[in-house]
Amino acid sequence: MNKKEIKLQYLKKIELIKKYNDHYYDKSNPLVTDQAYDKLKNEIEKLEIDYSFLKSESSPTKTVGHKPSKNFSKSLHKVPMLSLANAFTEEDLVNFEKKIKNFLSLEDKIKIFYSAEPKIDGISASLTYKNRKFYMGLSRGDGKEGEDITENLATIVDIPKVISSKDFPEEIDIRGEVFIQNSDFKNLREKFANPRNAASGSLRQKNPNDTKKIPLKFIAYTFGYEKGLLVNNQSDYIKKLNDWGFKTNPFNKLIWGVKNLIINYNEIEKKRANLDFDIDGIVYKVNDFAMQKRLGNVANAPRWAIAHKFSSYKAVSKILDIEIQIGRTGALTPVAKIKPINIGGVIVSNATLHNEDEINRKDIRVGDIAVIERAGDVIPHILSTDKQKRSKNSKKFVFPKNCPSCGSETIKELNKVTKKVDAVRRCSSEGYDCEKISIEKLKHFVSKDAFNIDGFGKKIVESFWKLNLVKFPQDIFNLDFSKIQNLDGWGKLSVQNLKYSIDQKKNISLERFIYSLGIRHIGLENAKLLSKHFISFSKFKNLSKQNDYEDLLNIDGIGETQISSIKSFFSNKTNKKVLNELDKFLVIKDTVQVSNDGLLNNKTFLVTGKLNGISRAEVKSLIEENSGKTISSVSKKLNFLIIGEKPTKKKVDYAKELKVKIIDQAEFLKMLNKTS
Ligand code: IVH
Repeated sequence: MNKKEIKLQYLKKIELIKKYNDHYYDKSNPLVTDQAYDKLKNEIEKLEIDYSFLKSESSPTKTVGHKPSKNFSKSLHKVPMLSLANAFTEEDLVNFEKKIKNFLSLEDKIKIFYSAEPKIDGISASLTYKNRKFYMGLSRGDGKEGEDITENLATIVDIPKVISSKDFPEEIDIRGEVFIQNSDFKNLREKFANPRNAASGSLRQKNPNDTKKIPLKFIAYTFGYEKGLLVNNQSDYIKKLNDWGFKTNPFNKLIWGVKNLIINYNEIEKKRANLDFDIDGIVYKVNDFAMQKRLGNVANAPRWAIAHKFSSYKAVSKILDIEIQIGRTGALTPVAKIKPINIGGVIVSNATLHNEDEINRKDIRVGDIAVIERAGDVIPHILSTDKQKRSKNSKKFVFPKNCPSCGSETIKELNKVTKKVDAVRRCSSEGYDCEKISIEKLKHFVSKDAFNIDGFGKKIVESFWKLNLVKFPQDIFNLDFSKIQNLDGWGKLSVQNLKYSIDQKKNISLERFIYSLGIRHIGLENAKLLSKHFISFSKFKNLSKQNDYEDLLNIDGIGETQISSIKSFFSNKTNKKVLNELDKFLVIKDTVQVSNDGLLNNKTFLVTGKLNGISRAEVKSLIEENSGKTISSVSKKLNFLIIGEKPTKKKVDYAKELKVKIIDQAEFLKMLNKTS
């Protein structure tokens, strides 16, 4: 065989393995047996060894890491797995503590103790124990629902299968991190880019025997659902974990006050390089469980914990090009394509330049040598460029005045609230008219926190859009599956799977639904607030008819910016059509009022004046936990005006006039069967 023939043969094999991978990983429909797959993989590897001129990015020797190797069955977490807010500076920590003290209405001099726990950068897992036996292990998934990876977790030596301690709770989800030690990772360097990928890949192997070969470790740090847990604070819980046979982080510490947190942070950061596991920060948790309970959560992160991230990694590389990406809200984001470089264990080839103002202010140009910064899971960004090293022919970057996707004019809006011109330039099209925007909108629609359709990822959105199969969200629920079955790479089984995943998601909560619409300024938290306010889809949809946008001001957390964005969403004909069409295919569930016992069901409250030992924020969260509502002004809709010290006279007078019931703090707490 001559060189050309060898290359041809090689490329054919590469094409074949690509096809197998596609079916195996993305569509869960393997075309060949594992043996046949391995045989092909070996042939490719052998060819590459024998003929050094053979190279392909798609070669199994080049592909780093493993994609999920199996469709694991899913299971709901009894208690959601939350994420953490990040802190980067001392100021962030000061604010964190200030918010806690304000919420709990604590005096400044009061010491709050925190459990400071180095944050291992691995994969979190939730291990359910029933009657002292390891019963089930789930991955985090989207926080609400995880994958059942029990068998793979059971191969980890650090995870006890049976607990002998008599004081172990009757049922508990022990939560912690699965990771690989750096010393063990050395032998896996060929296969995975970093220890985290290695842990994730190994945990999701099809065959638990493959997982067993990898020396995975587990350290425990929190819990989910529990029945019979008899501890009152985090540091005691950690001690108990040790008693029960779990490993915990040897550097966990109980500390009070921001100053001491910083001292500990600096000490740990110094040790960081010599540790045998990767840590990317320190988690601080309010130690006292009763305080944690009072503080509760915002969106999907607790108010009582924060991750203090370590400073970032920096590297120098060349800017090869500057591309303009268009987001779902039409924002034009300049992205620097850089010469790929390893920054703290991750290969980086894109770095954001944020927006037009930033690029102009820093005068960043194609060809520049730039400092790139990467911190944790945040998108890498360009810090600065070296003007000395710039070539004479270098030209200033000209930001496009027209949308590179649809050609529409681009604009910088005036923020009605701040009265400032936006730093971001946007495509002025109506949204679905612009190819890039509509593709991004669809990607958002199917994303994890929105419809979360299994097997309907970003790539499928792009390919279906190009094939005219999906142009609007409603098209997803009205797909022509016979057409898809005939597409390259699809088969009967994979189409069946797709149909099944789509059908499953036709039932959706109002909260997820509102979020999925991708209304600007309406993220997860605001979607939740809106869904609580509207309760039903029909009420949400009728908003534009009734034109009662001012009413939204009563929702604490929703302001002028959000309202103006909702208004503009509803003033767009296409959006209204999308809503009507989706209504035909979906069952959008009414918002269930989350309540312990619904003591304040359907009652509205307003506070005026200073309360004693309890903050406004806590009153609000107490009211909501008990299915009541807080509103922002005295009106006929108000049921109770809670008065504290020095109430606003106007509010009290008006409430009297409207015959609104006026109560004090003690009466309010009595309504909740609490005393102050
Ligand atoms: S507590 C409610 N403790 O950090 C608090 N998380 O962004 C959430 N992590 O997914 C978890 N070390 O993977 C907690 N000592 C620790 C942790 C820790 C690492 C990870 C965990 C979680 C992520 C939160």
